[in-house]
Amino acid sequence: MNPSVSAPYTIQPVSLTTAQNGHYEIGSIDVSQLIQNHGSPLYVMDEQTIRANCRAYTDPLKQFYPNHLVVFAAKACMTVGLLNILGEEGLGVDVVSAGELYTALKSNLPVPNILFHGNNKSLEELEMALRQSIRIVVDNEQELDNIVMLTEKLGLRARIMLRTKPEIEAHTHDYIKTGQIDSKFGIERAALMPLVRKVKDNPKIHILGLHSHIGSQIFDIEPYVDLAAIMAEHTLRLSAELGRPVEELNLGGGIGIKYTHSDDPPLISDVITAMTQRLVQEFESRQLRLPKLIMEPGRSIVGNAGVTLYTVGAIKDIPGVKTYLFVDGGMSDNIRPMLYQAEYTYDIATKATQPGTKSYAVAGKFCESGDVLTHSVTLPEAEVGDVVIVFDTGAYNYAMSSNYNRAPRPAMVVVKNGQSRVWVERETLDDLIRNDRY
Ligand SMILES: Cc1ncc(COP(=O)(O)O)c(C=O)c1O
Repeated sequence: MNPSVSAPYTIQPVSLTTAQNGHYEIGSIDVSQLIQNHGSPLYVMDEQTIRANCRAYTDPLKQFYPNHLVVFAAKACMTVGLLNILGEEGLGVDVVSAGELYTALKSNLPVPNILFHGNNKSLEELEMALRQSIRIVVDNEQELDNIVMLTEKLGLRARIMLRTKPEIEAHTHDYIKTGQIDSKFGIERAALMPLVRKVKDNPKIHILGLHSHIGSQIFDIEPYVDLAAIMAEHTLRLSAELGRPVEELNLGGGIGIKYTHSDDPPLISDVITAMTQRLVQEFESRQLRLPKLIMEPGRSIVGNAGVTLYTVGAIKDIPGVKTYLFVDGGMSDNIRPMLYQAEYTYDIATKATQPGTKSYAVAGKFCESGDVLTHSVTLPEAEVGDVVIVFDTGAYNYAMSSNYNRAPRPAMVVVKNGQSRVWVERETLDDLIRNDRY
């Protein structure tokens, strides 16, 4: 059963239930069983949620803007197994490095549905993309010059989009805002047409259209409507310059998700309806052909599909000050709380039916005072051996993980209908010294 695609974004995976023993189950598997089978800490991804999130995009798009492609921003989370599911749901992928491109090429995603992003692609990365005829989203003039040089040298043709700065201030956190004039990403409005003129008559460079992305974790619909209008105008300018219709318009990603009960993200279908209505209006009023619309969500495809399970190893009570729950992971598997004070929802997964009665700081095991996932959360009274669950860790957790303190990265498993499959094996101690030379 799939939940309604226009249902509000949940904090927990859609398959989450509570078993009679008071444990959470995900994909009909007890969290303790998952840890027993795959170890702790553990990233768990719920296949049902991933597919529902894909359809939250593709269903309204099919209805309101049939000529579309949804590409998953792989920076949020990338494994071959995940990409294969996204491919089955008709999505493509956006990649930002040779590593992500290599991973995408190993999946079953059709190569034409891969896009290559990045503000400083190396010549090797550009060559890799050109050899596979991958759409390249050009960030700056130097990159364009590099592509021209490589197409001549290799005798290949490039299919490019130009990343523009829509120069919109979306309400979000400064660290992850990319739409403004001072952003390191994209081409300013004034610089766009000179770049187009540089390559428009080059038979080896085919300009497909424009790209834009206004930021991440955006809770308002208006920035997307404004973006549609601004990018329609840019597209019209480009069309006039090229003397032909523009084939593609990419409006980026960034729709916010619900990490905590106070987060109030919009319905994905409402963003799509409002944004596409404006786009259609802008183009139809000028009797222009609608370009293919590309959307590039990351977080909202995988965020609530993922949870992290940790085991409590010790409880340190500092009387009158605070009580620490020490878990067997922390900043190496989830850097976001330390990097930009990201908030999550926590629970004791082995005491799911018990009320929260005690305030804890949940701290990791790493040699940094800052390695604290949350400084204060009310949870059921915890014991050593309990499983702590952190919701909404499907995006930007595994993707940003590290080997700090030589911690092996956790395994990632996908669950569905009582079955769990490994998507990423747990790293071993030998993996950690694999590249050491002595
Ligand atoms: C160019 C681009 N597209 C898409 C995304 C995905 O954003 P989100 O994960 O917030 O949907 C990002 C994220 O930073 C991005 O930089």
